[in-house]
Amino acid sequence: NAPFSYQNGMLHAEAVNLEHLADQVGTPCFVYSKQRLQDNWWAFDRALQPIPHLICYAVKANSNIAVLSILAQLGSGFDIVSGGELTRVLTAGAPANKIVFSGVGKSIAEMKQALEANILCFNVESEAELTRLNQVAGEMGLKARISLRVNPDVDARTHPYISTGLKQNKFGIAITEAPSLYAKAQQLPHLEITGVDCHIGSQLLDLAPFADALQRILQLVKQLEQQKIQLHHIDFGGGLGVRYREEEPPEIVDYANVLLEQWQNLPYTLLLEPGRAIAADAGILLTRVEFLKNGEAKNFAIVDAAMNDLIRPALYGAWQRIEPVFVADTPSADPLCYDIVGPVCETGDFLGKDRYLRVNEGDLLAVHQAGAYGFAMSSNYNTRGRAAEILVSGHQWQCVRRRETVEDLLALESIATI
Ligand code: LLP
Repeated sequence: NAPFSYQNGMLHAEAVNLEHLADQVGTPCFVYSKQRLQDNWWAFDRALQPIPHLICYAVKANSNIAVLSILAQLGSGFDIVSGGELTRVLTAGAPANKIVFSGVGKSIAEMKQALEANILCFNVESEAELTRLNQVAGEMGLKARISLRVNPDVDARTHPYISTGLKQNKFGIAITEAPSLYAKAQQLPHLEITGVDCHIGSQLLDLAPFADALQRILQLVKQLEQQKIQLHHIDFGGGLGVRYREEEPPEIVDYANVLLEQWQNLPYTLLLEPGRAIAADAGILLTRVEFLKNGEAKNFAIVDAAMNDLIRPALYGAWQRIEPVFVADTPSADPLCYDIVGPVCETGDFLGKDRYLRVNEGDLLAVHQAGAYGFAMSSNYNTRGRAAEILVSGHQWQCVRRRETVEDLLALESIATI
């Protein structure tokens, strides 16, 4: 069941008419399908049924607590990268023992917060972090469960900004150094080694890099066993790509099968940290055309959403499908070629370029695959309040984050008095 589909020419989110919704909540807004979030999560969970596993949704992709609470109710685990995300996940009702903590720059305060909560595991990314975590845990009279994030040095063949598994990236520990660092960790009294972790990149469209990386990780695991290092889980990260345009990402089940093939009967729990593959196609960004501007060289559709709402096109040159919310049965005119741009004062402020559309002022457009890295990366640039977020389930909808007002933004600031 497509989460966003046309009924009598009108785009719906599940059974909710998006024109009606926009009239009530205004634009721009993000709209999420509960059903699709669940279906995507279940697809991972089902595909890994043959082995002990835990799907730890990567909170960074979409951290609205409504989204987190839906996944928590399915039994999801969570991959967090900050104390803020930890608070979100706990607020959403998830148990701490299903939370893993990734990221290269964990602060002392964040370590304390996570130790107090008693999370499942810290994914440690450097020797310095190992030392700090050991000290913080010691001061609290606790033991921190850890994995080392290992960098298997495979080329994930994705956008350089989101490729993380190469030697030159800031992430993880070189796989060649892992055995000695594990040996060191074993000596530290306030750490308990529980696993090994890796994440090679995002928006991966080939299975080969995953297979290569897992092979290298499993080799390492063997070596660690010989070193008498006892592991409980292998965390293989996230990264499975989605279809934005003509990409053909692997199906979740095929991705899982590539992992299962190598897994055989290993006595570990497999953790995955998918973000995009769970959230992207569960969301759209709904925006209204303010003006049409027909220039000499280009036609512009100026919409009320901008790079502050959805930065992926501006930041990565990402292409996301943009469609009118209402499509007439018998169109009266040919489509025109537009750049879809926002009101922000930057040339880079576009949502799409060279798109053929039939649009008029006041029309609604839907930007697809906006459920992941959409709202989560939004900002207040140009003092634009961030968009509302709406959750849809069947005929029902709920505003799960109200639109920010300028008062919200100014409330944090002060007039200079010095
Ligand atoms: N685990 C770790 C340690 C990560 O760094 C990431 C993403 C994930 C899991 C989730 O990866 P996913 O399954 O979503 O590919 N803002 C970029 C994507 C950045 C991804 C960063 N790390 C974008 O909009 O394309």
